[in-house]
Amino acid sequence: MKGIHVAIIMDGNGRWANARGLPRVAGHREGARVVRKVVEGAPGLGVGMLTLYAFSSDNWGRPQREVGGLMRLFRIYLAAETQRCVENDIRMSVIGRRDRLPEPLRRAVDGAEAATADGSRMHLRIALDYSARDALVSAAARLSAGATRDDFARALGDGAPDVDLLVRTGGEQRLSDFLLWECAYAELLFTPRMWPDFDAGALADAVSEYHRRERRFGGVPVAAAG
Ligand code: IPE
Ligand code: IPE
Ligand code: MG
Repeated sequence: MKGIHVAIIMDGNGRWANARGLPRVAGHREGARVVRKVVEGAPGLGVGMLTLYAFSSDNWGRPQREVGGLMRLFRIYLAAETQRCVENDIRMSVIGRRDRLPEPLRRAVDGAEAATADGSRMHLRIALDYSARDALVSAAARLSAGATRDDFARALGDGAPDVDLLVRTGGEQRLSDFLLWECAYAELLFTPRMWPDFDAGALADAVSEYHRRERRFGGVPVAAAG
């Protein structure tokens, strides 16, 4: 993969809406608009893979009205964005469980993945009904004793590419069961900005901050080497 892998926990839609006296679903709708802008801006910032946390497996526990609104939004988003991704040479795929998604959404996922399979400028991954712990448990179940790290990464699907930069909007400083294996050495960036207030400029700032950090992977600072 060329470019860096940026993963984003898109949090704060509900609070953004509440602060404006709007229903939570209105915050999710605004959030979808931001996804569009961020996806458009990302390839120009040297992002080769962008993984967006859209719905966690624990989010099924939210009120049915909100869950239903989200599923509808995901389907509309995928249908509308497929063509834009094709035009922008972006490959789109979905990670997470498929079997619990409503049938029309599952079809939209399959359609988006098939239509964008040749995209080579960036790989956009959307995490839907995703739980890192569940992904680890099912990968482990498929492996035998003596499996290596590479075997594990393969079993996790997609080769489980390491995350270079993890951004979480909305002010919370936690991973909420997102990409636990892949974030082993990720740079973490938490911003108080709610997701609907995020944009391509904020992503550019985050990527600049990432490039200012020194990654050591357990080694010693560059200045101290030799
Ligand atoms: C993130 O925003 C979107 C999803 C989890 C689907 P939230 O809905 O969690 O918004 P807050 O955290 O309640 O503000
Ligand atoms: C994480 O946000 C999931 C997504 C952004 C899709 P949550 O709002 O569900 O996480 P917690 O409950 O604050 O940890
Ligand atoms: Mg939240």
